[in-house]
Amino acid sequence: MRIAIFGLGYVGCVSGACLAKMGHSVIGVDVSPGKLDMIRRGESPIIEPGLDDLLAEMVKKEQFTVTSDPAEAIRETDISMICVGTPSKLNGDLDTSYIDRVIEQIGAVIKDINHYHVVTIRSTLLPGIVNTRVIPFLESASGKKAGQDFGFCVNPEFLRESTAISDFQTPPFTVIGEFNKESGDILQKVYEDLPAEVYRVEPEAAAMVKYASNAYHAVKVVFGNEIGSICKSLGIDGQRVMEVFCKDKQLNISKAYLRPGFAFGGSCLPKDVRAIQYTAKHRDIQVPLLSSLIPSNDSHIQRAVETIFAHGKRKVALLGLSFKPGTDDLRESPMVRFAETLIGKGYSLRIFDEEVSLSNLFGRNRDYIEKVLPHIHEVLRTDLSACIEEAEVVIVAKELSDMEKVRSALREDQVVLDLLGSRDWSPAQSASIV
Ligand SMILES: NC(=O)c1ccc[n+]([C@@H]2O[C@H](COP(=O)([O-])OP(=O)(O)OC[C@H]3O[C@@H](n4cnc5c(N)ncnc54)[C@H](O)[C@@H]3O)[C@@H](O)[C@H]2O)c1
Repeated sequence: MRIAIFGLGYVGCVSGACLAKMGHSVIGVDVSPGKLDMIRRGESPIIEPGLDDLLAEMVKKEQFTVTSDPAEAIRETDISMICVGTPSKLNGDLDTSYIDRVIEQIGAVIKDINHYHVVTIRSTLLPGIVNTRVIPFLESASGKKAGQDFGFCVNPEFLRESTAISDFQTPPFTVIGEFNKESGDILQKVYEDLPAEVYRVEPEAAAMVKYASNAYHAVKVVFGNEIGSICKSLGIDGQRVMEVFCKDKQLNISKAYLRPGFAFGGSCLPKDVRAIQYTAKHRDIQVPLLSSLIPSNDSHIQRAVETIFAHGKRKVALLGLSFKPGTDDLRESPMVRFAETLIGKGYSLRIFDEEVSLSNLFGRNRDYIEKVLPHIHEVLRTDLSACIEEAEVVIVAKELSDMEKVRSALREDQVVLDLLGSRDWSPAQSASIV
C-alpha cells in the first residue's frame, strides 16, 4: 500500500522503515529539515538498534522517501499515519497542538483530492479528543464528511524504544479503532503480514486501550517496587518473591480480576491489604500504591451509592449479598457495605441471595452480619420475584443461578443497576457504574 507518515521521530521513523520493509511504499513528512536531510542520506535521526541499516536499505531502494510537503504525501497515498508528538502540559493534560496542526494540514489537502484517503492516528491521544477535536477539525478543514468522503482510524502504537523494530514486527496485537468499516478494512490490509491478532473497536476505545496498557505497565513497575521494598525491610529476597509470584498464570499474571465490575471484598483481600500496608507503615516504607487500594475500593462502592441517589427512587431490591457467587461468606462483602449505606440513608431495601440463608449462617459470619446489618432479618427475602416486584430500583450485584428469572420479573418502569456491568438490560431502564 502507499502510506504517508507524518512525524519522523521515534514512532514515525521506526514505523516508516518497518512498513517499507514489509513492501509498502512509504513517504515520510516532517517539519524538521534536518531530520529530512538525514533520512534522505539514509541516516537515522534517532538512536535505535538496527534502524540505521534498515533505514539505509529502504531509502536506497526508494521504498521510503521523504518530503516537507503534506500535499505531495497525501496525493500519492491511501493512508496517512500521524506520529507527531503529544507531550504533557504542565498540568498533566495532553498538549494536542502538534496534532491540531497536522490535522489542519491534512484536512486542507483532503479538500482537493478525489481518492478515498484514510487518516490514521498512531500518536497516543486521549479518548474524547477524537470526537471533540480531531474529526470536527478534519471535516471543517476539508469541507468533507468523515467515513463518507475520507476514512479515519485510531491505531495506537505499542513499540518500546531500544527494541522498537522487533516490537513493530511482532506486536502483542494490532488495535484498529475504525470510524467506519471501510476505513478499518483498508488499514487492516497494511498489517496482514504481521503475526498478530487484530482487534477492531471504536476509535475512542482504541485510544483507551493504549492508556490502559501504559497505566497498567506503570502499576506493575510500582507494585514490584513496593513489594520489593517491603521484602527488603523484612530481610526477604524480593527478586525471588516476585519470580515465584509470576509463576502463577491462573490468578497473578492472567486476566483474572481485570474485568471492570464491582468492588473487592470478602474475608481475605481487605484484611490482607490492610495488614501488608500496616507492615510497611510500621517499617517507615512509603507504599502509596498499596495504600491507595482500600480508598479506591471504597470510592467504587460510593459511586454505586451515588448512582442510586441520582435516580431519586427509594424502593430498592439488592440481588446478591455475599461477596461472590458460590459462597455465603458475608464478611466484608462490598454488597453488605452498600446495603448498610442505603438503609442508613432511609431507603426501603429488600435483599435476595439464594446462597444466604440466616438459618444456615454460623459463627463469625453470622456475628458479622448481625453487627453490621442488625435489620437483616427484616430485609432478607427468599422469593426472588416478590423481591423484584416491590422495587423501583433493582441492583444486580451477583451472578444468580437463574438470571432469566430476574429478566422476566423486571418491569419497564424499573431501573436496573448492574454492578457487574456485563448485560444488556433493555427494555428496563438500565444504569451501570463501569
Ligand atoms: N517513543 C515511543 O516509544 C512511543 C511509543 C508508542 C507511542 N508513542 C507515541 O507516539 C507519538 C510520537 O512519539 P515520538 O516519540 O515518535 O515523538 P517525537 O517527538 O520523537 O517525534 C515527533 C515528530 O513529529 C514531527 N512533527 C511535529 N509537527 C509536525 C507536523 N505538523 N508535520 C509533520 N511532522 C511534525 C516532529 O518534528 C518530530 O520529528 C506520541 O504520541 C507518543 O506518545 C511513542
